[in-house]
Amino acid sequence: MNIHAVPFGTYRTVEAPHFLRDSDLSAHELRSLLELALQVKIEPELYRESLRHRAVALLFEKPSLRTRMTFELAALQLGGFSVFQDHQDGRIGEREPARDIARNLDRWFDAVVARTYSHKTLELLAEWSKVPVINALSDSYHPCQALADFLTLLEHFGSFEGLKLAYIGDANNVAHSLLHCSTQMGISISLCSPPEYAPRAKDLAQANSIAESTGSRIEVLSDIEEAVRGATAVYTDVWTSMGWEDETQQRRIAFSGYEVTEAVMSAASKDAVFMHCLPALRGEEVSDSVIESKASLVFDQAENRLHAHKALLLMMVGRR
Ligand code: CP
Ligand code: NVA
Repeated sequence: MNIHAVPFGTYRTVEAPHFLRDSDLSAHELRSLLELALQVKIEPELYRESLRHRAVALLFEKPSLRTRMTFELAALQLGGFSVFQDHQDGRIGEREPARDIARNLDRWFDAVVARTYSHKTLELLAEWSKVPVINALSDSYHPCQALADFLTLLEHFGSFEGLKLAYIGDANNVAHSLLHCSTQMGISISLCSPPEYAPRAKDLAQANSIAESTGSRIEVLSDIEEAVRGATAVYTDVWTSMGWEDETQQRRIAFSGYEVTEAVMSAASKDAVFMHCLPALRGEEVSDSVIESKASLVFDQAENRLHAHKALLLMMVGRR
């Protein structure tokens, strides 16, 4: 895929009613979304009325800097607005059932963006909501992050051709989203973790069946050098995701040796980039020298959250 931004006003809508996991978008829709995100990034003023009077609800059970800020700003810069409800003190479904929350929100809002512990909570909201529900991170997937990451790769390399992504560390929500997006885009991916933290078999099976037609190669490894060999991008994330804090010590032991250091980067392709969804724990999954190096795209990824979210909102609610 080469970069060519779409002309203003020609974006398509998404077929799936909700965006809970990466595979809710077809490969074609994903490409269209990335093209639209580039267009919105280049000419944001063209879209400043596109979501006029549209309202987005944000429900977050976990902390957030990037996801919350960029969804709120995206709605605002597209002419709409957002209302945030903090659910950190009580999970969605505790005060009243998720199915009732969904049937309240869809009377007032045009989309619901939710960050949850259990993916099931999102599925429940989506089952009962007449407006799109968007996954702002669950324990299973972080599809909005992957959109910004692939936008960043596309901008940096100009095309997805010949790319290989090496993901080092916990096969968590971010890793599973990268797995699905990579295979849809025909990008090869190596997932490298201690065997007990490897990707879920069901997701691997689904990704492998898609990879057959897109030409992407999927490897599940535990040897870092093998995983980064030929990699054009090396990606990592925290060893302990939100909600797993009780396992912090045990995970520090399990993941020791899985830090992305300069030595790891030099075993990858010559011009390999470093990626991380942030927040990062320097000295655990990544060394300070790598995250601060010229190869690091982490703040481009963070910036692109905004543009990717704008494209997603346009395609999911812009034309309703
Ligand atoms: N990467 C990411 O989702 O960051 P936040 O948790 O700050 O939203
Ligand atoms: N895997 C991390 C991602 C944070 C953006 C977590 O779930 O905490």
